[in-house]
Amino acid sequence: MTTTVRTRVAIVGAGPAGLLLSHLLDRAGIGSVVVDQRSRDDIESTIRAGILEQGTVELLDTLGPVSRARTAGHRHDGIELRFEGEGHRIDFAASVGRAVWLYPQHEVLKDLIAARLDRGQDLRFGVTAERIDDAGTDRPRVIARDADGQPLEIEADVVVGSDGSRSVARATVTGSSKGGYFREYPFAWFGILCEAPPSSEELIYSNSPDGFALVSQRSDTVQRMYFQCDPDTDTAAYSEAQLWDELQKRVPGTELKQGPIFQRDVLRFRSFVAHELRRGRVALVGDAAHTVPPTGAKGMNLAIADVRLLAAALEALLLEDDERLLDAYPATASRRIWKAQHFSWWMTSLLHVAPDATDFDRRRQIGELRTVVESEHGRAYLAEAYCGWPSDA
Ligand code: PHB
Repeated sequence: MTTTVRTRVAIVGAGPAGLLLSHLLDRAGIGSVVVDQRSRDDIESTIRAGILEQGTVELLDTLGPVSRARTAGHRHDGIELRFEGEGHRIDFAASVGRAVWLYPQHEVLKDLIAARLDRGQDLRFGVTAERIDDAGTDRPRVIARDADGQPLEIEADVVVGSDGSRSVARATVTGSSKGGYFREYPFAWFGILCEAPPSSEELIYSNSPDGFALVSQRSDTVQRMYFQCDPDTDTAAYSEAQLWDELQKRVPGTELKQGPIFQRDVLRFRSFVAHELRRGRVALVGDAAHTVPPTGAKGMNLAIADVRLLAAALEALLLEDDERLLDAYPATASRRIWKAQHFSWWMTSLLHVAPDATDFDRRRQIGELRTVVESEHGRAYLAEAYCGWPSDA
């Protein structure tokens, strides 16, 4: 027996994009159903990136005390770029009068899920979307299986695919699950979480002859750090002592505070933008639409920027029968998507050592780093992009 649910907006994927969209729609009086294949526990406990742009925090603020980004997060007014053994601070406040907040994505998710369930809104875990039918009509349907494996159909005015980089919705929109502009990188990040105090007040992005390292944070007692590695690296191949050696040699000049390492993972790098972001009444947001390498900390922020645009477009469509903003959504969203793609690619190429880099390449890269840190305008470009462009740019 197939259960059929009817709603105005069916949202596939309960990541930050899907959940935030459901809140913004709810505020405008538009109902939605959000489904996700994962369990609540899975979603809330997966460790992900942690930097929120100022505009992201401002948008989350509009949800009220539900969002703890500003109160429980930490404001960062700068980052350090380190190369040739020296640190160079990029002062966001001085350059662009803006800041970022360190507030991990899973905390954002906890806030949004709790708020959604508190308000008695329809959020279903363990639901696997199989495909989306009738995208070209004004009654698109999500064909799914519920947590017990029973067939479920969600009939809506609009379906939104916020279902991440392995999106099912993408196939409906682009005609194939892979259809997009794509770039791979010959390196990855080895990430660790450890129990230790912070090694530095601000994040350190370090370019060293041994490769890139990033010293980030999670809290006063848990730290997140990464070092550049081969994409095929086996996380079990390193002892804890070897991991500290790898990290430490890439951050000369700062003695890393060590502690037990309780999680390790390898993050592969990809740049991707789907060829299409919308087909009829089905639209893509977040990682379903695009992926960036993590160096610029843009992933979640870009997803939230998509949602800001799409929420306005769906309000116009569903409350005023005006389809113009939805028609414009792919072109409007693409402007920021490609700026973020460029910035993420640029930060990646600026800071990593390519496996086939020549002496010339290394020296050129140091020249590029100096061009940035020794110029007010260079620092301002980085600061502006890192803290996030205005919402209409
Ligand atoms: C993180 O804390 O996980 C993090 C921070 C900055 C980045 C990427 C990841 O650019």
